[in-house]
Amino acid sequence: MGRNIIVVGCQWGDEGKGKVVDLLAEKSDIIARFQGGANAGHTIHIEDKRLILHLVPSGVTHPGKICYIGNGVVVDPFGLLEEIDSLHTQGIDTAGRLFISAAANLVMPYHKLIDVIEENRRGGDCLGTTLRGIGPAYRDKVARWGIRVADLQVPQRLRAKLDNQVKTKAEYLAGNTDERADMNKTYDALMNIAPRFREIMVDVSLELQKQNRQGKKILFEGAQGAMLDIDLGTYPFTTSSNTTVGGALTGLGVGPSMIGEVMGIVKAYTTRVGGGPFPTELMDDIAVCLREAGSEYGATTGRARRVGWLDLVSLRHACRINGVDSIAVTKLDVLGCLDKIQVCTQYENDGFAGEDVPLDLATLSQVKPVYREFPGWKTDICGITDYSKLPAAARNYLDFIAEALGVRIALVSTGSRRSDTIMMND
Ligand code: GDP
Ligand code: IMO
Ligand code: MG
Repeated sequence: MGRNIIVVGCQWGDEGKGKVVDLLAEKSDIIARFQGGANAGHTIHIEDKRLILHLVPSGVTHPGKICYIGNGVVVDPFGLLEEIDSLHTQGIDTAGRLFISAAANLVMPYHKLIDVIEENRRGGDCLGTTLRGIGPAYRDKVARWGIRVADLQVPQRLRAKLDNQVKTKAEYLAGNTDERADMNKTYDALMNIAPRFREIMVDVSLELQKQNRQGKKILFEGAQGAMLDIDLGTYPFTTSSNTTVGGALTGLGVGPSMIGEVMGIVKAYTTRVGGGPFPTELMDDIAVCLREAGSEYGATTGRARRVGWLDLVSLRHACRINGVDSIAVTKLDVLGCLDKIQVCTQYENDGFAGEDVPLDLATLSQVKPVYREFPGWKTDICGITDYSKLPAAARNYLDFIAEALGVRIALVSTGSRRSDTIMMND
């Protein structure tokens, strides 16, 4: 039996976690999501079909694999059912193998409305959220106003909790004619879908412990990336959950010994959606080239992703805060369009070169990246499955990354299909 693996993003999200989880799911029995919500957009390609998953774990396409959504996830109940139904129409049946924690907090229609109102209030300083209600839902959870999956089964309690929202959120909801502010509508809609949740809600922590004891192999699927972590990312330009390994422990109710290998997902360059500092950001033709070659448009919102060079300073930070054992380098093929490739090795600030991410946002916003230049390979490497078949310049690039981060490369992705993968030997 191999070790359980946790997959976490090491940049600002969209590193290709979906593809890697889908791939690793084949050799796993269970796939468990632990944080985030429908802000995530995880893309997987199966033959000619493209699937974008927001809440359902990316292992779902493998028949017979069991999928869990943990208590740390904030779940849009309507969105989840839509996703399940859409999978069903595409021939993927989740019945009897997709379960959700009774303790997961729900993202309500009013959370999405508040997300919009707050982004508008921030004006030019807006975060560029996905408007999926994530921040407002996590805020309610922490403030202990949240409505949980289990509440759907207790109509009176649900009604009382909803009525209470009108008082605690009067600032946003009082007199608001948007139907998302209408608690009667929300209550009726929730009562309609409650029976479907009765069938799938479980205690995920208990289930995972049972399965783990039986020797089942568990794959933990992270959403977003280390630099979007609420505590350790580029706050306040982050999401509202712990996207790093700690989030898996509290988001599923498991102890650290259940996690075997920590696999960080690293895109061969960097992207970011939304606002916030991005030291290696490119604004020139190279950005256009990478954005087009890599189809860098958001899987959830369709927004053009900001694009930049690989940033080893932030990656070292991501590896440290996650205790990364190995990395998967994705989208290496996309760099095939470039003559020269830059890699940021240090941040310069006030004439001093540093190796660490400054915790202060103002400082981070003014650092200048120090680059090391690499020759490009100017070849289409899409679909290569053997490391030795990569051009020497591409191998050189990978070796440099592994050495600089002090981690092993577990796999290299050379295209969006499952088969476009180089599995490295241990
Ligand atoms: P996630 O949020 O980390 O799961 O990543 P996304 O799905 O949002 O974005 C990654 C995109 O890159 C998706 O469209 C994937 O299909 C695609 N992708 C993943 N790996 C590769 C790769 O190695 N090469 C190319 N060209 N595309 C890839
Ligand atoms: P996956 O799992 C990329 C970003 C948003 C915004 C910030 C806060 O596909 O990698 P939120 O809606 O969470 O309050 O937005 O976080 N963001 C992501 N960026 N990939 C994601 O998920 C993201 N989820 C949130 O763009 O900058
Ligand atoms: Mg994504």
